Amino acid sequence: MIGRQTIAKVHLEALKNNYRCIDLLAENSKTIAVVKADAYGHGAAQVSRALAPMVDAFAVAFFDEAYYLREHDITHPILLLEGPMSCEEIRLARALNFWLAIHSAQQFTEVMSLPVTQRPTFWLKVDTGMHRLGVSVDTARALLRTYRAELPADMVLSTHLSCADEIDNPFTQQQVTALKQLADEFDLPISIANSAAIQTLPSAHGKWNRLGLSLYGASPSAACAGKHLMPVMHLEANVIAVRTIQAGEFVGYSQTWQASRTSTIATVAIGYADGYPRHAQVGTPGYIHGKTVPLVGRVSMDMVTFDVTDVGPVNCGDKVELWGNNVAVETVAQHANTISYALLAGLSARVKRHYLSI
Ligand SMILES: Cc1ncc(COP(=O)(O)O)c(C=O)c1O
Repeated sequence: MIGRQTIAKVHLEALKNNYRCIDLLAENSKTIAVVKADAYGHGAAQVSRALAPMVDAFAVAFFDEAYYLREHDITHPILLLEGPMSCEEIRLARALNFWLAIHSAQQFTEVMSLPVTQRPTFWLKVDTGMHRLGVSVDTARALLRTYRAELPADMVLSTHLSCADEIDNPFTQQQVTALKQLADEFDLPISIANSAAIQTLPSAHGKWNRLGLSLYGASPSAACAGKHLMPVMHLEANVIAVRTIQAGEFVGYSQTWQASRTSTIATVAIGYADGYPRHAQVGTPGYIHGKTVPLVGRVSMDMVTFDVTDVGPVNCGDKVELWGNNVAVETVAQHANTISYALLAGLSARVKRHYLSI
């Protein structure tokens, strides 16, 4: 064996299971698989190929990500969530079967000025309160009135929820109501729901729902837990050194952790250059030999250290799970004051991906 064994095992059956489970929650909707950011770090080509027989469309952030999928034989429609970056992209979209999230009046007039035979499929993105992307409700209404007679039959009104993961936040319902009123006025289909809203807010289900995070087995909030999701990524790394230190001695940069007893410290081959969070606190769990162990000391660029005193013998070459079945990625995220999205999408190219089909 040659090379560092820092590996993200990607379980494609778990991925398909998650898609099926979530898709069943919204019987009257179609579920778009969101595979932007290299499928949240899982590998966009492999993930999309695995899902291709069961999904109707994919979504990515921008043109280059969609083009990458075309280069990897994905023939489904691909929605560009960030919309076109230029008129050229608008003109190329139809031939490539890219669907565009049109988010400004200028883009809308540009796309509508194309002859029908050259016009790509597009959605009109409406800003119902997130104030990130989209035309205001008033601008959308004005555009839809102006173009009422020529609106394409497959046009969708979409919006993005700012607080979908906060189950009791009344702002979400305001956003849903704003989009639905507009859609009713023009008899248009809608797309609102992301992972959290698909699982907790049936009123946000539309013709299309956009499933990202939970496809990969992570829950955007506690309210979404227990939906039979399976973690798709299992991140593991090897122990590369084991040492005993005495009570009073320190571990790692800046001496942030001091042993209170004689302790066995395992050094593990993963660090922040791999995407393991630099700000993971002391106590962030790892999993070795059937036991949870606490991270001690600071996360370095290439290594981390765990206190394995209570585990029994630990040797070089032993595997540590950083997240996966036994350590939820959400738990690691909480200990690092971040979110599971950032951990998954931030896993660097240095970590080898191994794809498992069973
Ligand atoms: C516009 C849009 N729709 C859908 C999603 C998917 O959201 P989630 O990963 O929470 O399911 C995202 C993710 O950031 C998004 O930006």
